[in-house]
Amino acid sequence: MDKSTVIPSPAKIMEHLNRFVIGQEEAKKTLSVAVYNHYRRLQLSAAPDAKQWQNGKSNVILMGNTGCGKTYLINTIARMLNVPFYVQDCTKITASGYVGSDVEDCLAGLLRSCNYDVEAAQRGIVMLDECDKLRKAYAGASITRDVSGECVQQSLLKIVEGDVVGVQPQGGRKHPEASLVYVDTTNILFIASGAFVGLEEIIRKRTGQSKGAIGFNGSGQKKEETESTVLDRILPEDLTRYGMIPEFIGRFPVITNVEPLSKDDLVRILTEPDDAITRQYRRMMAMDGADLKFTDGALEAIATLALEIGTGARALRSVIEKVLLDIMFDVPSCRDKNRGRLTEIVITQEMVYAKTRQYQQVV
Ligand SMILES: Nc1ncnc2c1ncn2[C@@H]1O[C@H](COP(=O)(O)OP(=O)(O)OP(=O)(O)O)[C@@H](O)[C@H]1O
Ligand SMILES: [Mg+2]
Repeated sequence: MDKSTVIPSPAKIMEHLNRFVIGQEEAKKTLSVAVYNHYRRLQLSAAPDAKQWQNGKSNVILMGNTGCGKTYLINTIARMLNVPFYVQDCTKITASGYVGSDVEDCLAGLLRSCNYDVEAAQRGIVMLDECDKLRKAYAGASITRDVSGECVQQSLLKIVEGDVVGVQPQGGRKHPEASLVYVDTTNILFIASGAFVGLEEIIRKRTGQSKGAIGFNGSGQKKEETESTVLDRILPEDLTRYGMIPEFIGRFPVITNVEPLSKDDLVRILTEPDDAITRQYRRMMAMDGADLKFTDGALEAIATLALEIGTGARALRSVIEKVLLDIMFDVPSCRDKNRGRLTEIVITQEMVYAKTRQYQQVV
């Protein structure tokens, strides 16, 4: 990325995100600015007078409930900018954290994502997913946790800040004889994400508000108003109290969060994005001669059920799969009879509730 590369403005990045991600205005804005600045700095560091400037990084912490768009947001940005992107599950590093070499696996993953183009990887984005699981053992309620979480946080410090790291291109230690590839992480943008269950409790304590025990996921979604306003008041020290080490938090100057999705958001997610779920199923079934439609009542019913399941937008797909199971089973067998004509299939509210009875019991 040299000086002539045109980086889309934050407004353009946000516009692009709006085509895919519903709601999450604050997170969209923060990420658009952080990513824009990151690539601007990258251009500055390539300028002739770069040596006189110390360009800090704006790594981001992205918090929030499961299935509310964290990975999706970053993925959408990476696709737009056409930069390598890799999601590293931090819990995997925890499992064998003592070995030491594992933290570099995120870089091996990044290299794989761009076909081992080191130049490209050095401008990529790494998402450190589930980073909240790296909390120190004694800070949280659980005392049975392994201390490896803290060790992993420590071993990530150098990489996150910017260092030249020798990476086994295949990851892990499977090929000890393979030669190392050296990756400079200075211009890699790191985005740490996680649900941080129980964090608002800590914020409430600091700000002197008590509000009983409310988790930051699952059924906690119903308390959307209160929760999101609590998180707006977050300070880095809250994350330290949560169990992240100050050096780790200090390397992520931008903190933002996705909000719990409401029923209306879920209805919009079903239909509005360019790659909306209902459109995906419509396209698939059109290949077998069916013109799939959903009534407004059906969409609302699907959203209602998904909200109860409490896994954010992910639940939408589970509900739709249940609703469409019989239809998806039968339609392909009728394809030849239709001789190229489309048969209209309309999913109604009654059908949604009838097909998801087992589900409603589970919920
Ligand atoms: N705000 C949203 N707008 C549109 N689609 C969404 C939104 N949130 C989630 N989705 C859909 O749900 C899927 C799962 O979301 P995503 O992977 O971003 O969850 P997450 O926040 O990273 O959760 P986790 O903490 O479990 O990793 C996405 O692939 C996307 O299809
Ligand atoms: Mg995710």
